[in-house]
Amino acid sequence: MTKQYPIHEKVIALDEQYKNRDQQAIKNSTLLDASRICQDLYLPLFLTEYFSNNKRIRNFLEVGSSVGNLTLPIRSFVDRVFSFDICQGAIDISKETNQGIPGIEVFQADGLSPLNSNAIASHLFDFIYIREFHPFTRNFFASLDEAKAIQKEALLAYSSRLEENGLMVIYQVNTVDQAFRPSPEMIPTDCKLELAYYDPRLLSPFIQLFRRNLKLACFFTKLFQPLLRLRGYPTYLFVLRKKAS
Ligand SMILES: C[S@@+](CC[C@H](N)C(=O)[O-])C[C@H]1O[C@@H](n2cnc3c(N)ncnc32)[C@H](O)[C@@H]1O
Repeated sequence: MTKQYPIHEKVIALDEQYKNRDQQAIKNSTLLDASRICQDLYLPLFLTEYFSNNKRIRNFLEVGSSVGNLTLPIRSFVDRVFSFDICQGAIDISKETNQGIPGIEVFQADGLSPLNSNAIASHLFDFIYIREFHPFTRNFFASLDEAKAIQKEALLAYSSRLEENGLMVIYQVNTVDQAFRPSPEMIPTDCKLELAYYDPRLLSPFIQLFRRNLKLACFFTKLFQPLLRLRGYPTYLFVLRKKAS
């Protein structure tokens, strides 16, 4: 068993809202904008093709899935999705939405101690998707050092469940000082940081413009990034790849 962290009071309050079927909480967790879902899914799909030579994803782990809106669209391009959240209320809703669909496993687990979950500890994943995961995006911890230590330990646990050449994608808007940032000491030694600090919304059109040439797309995205900073908080995409042994 790995260490267990106390659940943040804001997450407990959110879980109460899910359990009471609070429509506002469900709406906040629902990606109503279909184009955003497409865009958010396009990048992982593209990156997988790019880094894995078009190898089909077998096992996909969705961390902090909330009510499970992304789960079914993800399932359309992978064999199996393992989707979990710490909030039992969100998991209940996700189970109703994704009920009976083969290849979708929905369960409750703590994403900061993923190895305590049998479903996670007993599988290897080609893709681990950490999208807007609270402990990576909120000031949940007593200090920045504590946040970094906890985030680092979680990444280590996830990297231990990655297949060789498997991808771990962290995708989030960074608004607070404890938000995850991939400084070299945070990256597990068996992983390589393939991509960081590019606004995914901007990267997608450039990938298409440059005929899916990731290096060129990254170069032009970087040129345009200062303009995005003026527009508000940047969305970050960090791509880690498990090294082949
Ligand atoms: C902003 S939502 C993101 C939902 C989804 N990943 C997305 O991108 O639309 C953050 C989710 O993280 C979950 N969460 C917070 N702490 C967690 C933990 N320790 N383990 C697993 N999930 C957690 C919350 O319950 C919430 O559903």
